[in-house]
Amino acid sequence: MRLQKYMAHCGVGSRRKCEELIKQGRVYINGKQVTTMGVNVNVENDEVSLDRTQLLKLAEEKIYILLYKPKGTITSVSDPHGRKTVLEHMGWKGSRIYPVGRLDYDTEGVLILSNDGEFTYEMTHPKYEVEKEYYCVVEGSPGLVAIRQLRQGVEINGFVTSPAKVTLIEQQKKHSILRIVIHEGKNRQVRRMFEAVGHPVVYLRREKFGNLSLKGMQVGEWRKLADKEVKGLKLLSGGRE
Ligand code: URA
Repeated sequence: MRLQKYMAHCGVGSRRKCEELIKQGRVYINGKQVTTMGVNVNVENDEVSLDRTQLLKLAEEKIYILLYKPKGTITSVSDPHGRKTVLEHMGWKGSRIYPVGRLDYDTEGVLILSNDGEFTYEMTHPKYEVEKEYYCVVEGSPGLVAIRQLRQGVEINGFVTSPAKVTLIEQQKKHSILRIVIHEGKNRQVRRMFEAVGHPVVYLRREKFGNLSLKGMQVGEWRKLADKEVKGLKLLSGGRE
């Protein structure tokens, strides 16, 4: 953000007045005097002072969104292959937000988007153990051995998954339906876990992220999270409010 705009946001005065103060040499960024126009401020990290008094940092509004991600969208902010991103799907024109963790192109379900870096870290780092629940349709009919393996942990590319909660919902010869709860987020983890036990996934939907579900939402819809929903998620990761 331009320095004079930032100063005006901090309540110093109009942008013109702020420009005057800059020209008079009364403004410093991180202790360095600024006397020319066109200088930008990093609102998160820079310290701006006027007459040696630090201006109060302007806090960026924190945004938390829940999207019922549809199939055929990617969770990156841009795609070199021209595939549709979740932000394009939403028609998002607001300030920068990022997906909190990822879902595959073909996976549907709960996706949170936010500009809160600390929150993103806490929701996705396995050490905070925030649970993610998936509804899976898999090939074939997983037996007790396969289910036990998934529950205990399976090896995928040299990484052994943490114990998972697995429930068999429907078992048929050709396809079966299961629910699996994990707290890790390795790339394509659920698909790779089922592949490892010989039952590739044919349909995958994330039904829950912590205490957040898709209740009342249609595929493709999104909404802002209520404060109490954000607080609930933060509590899951260890209590920061
Ligand atoms: N596990 C997967 O395999 N894919 C996802 O999108 C999420 C978890």
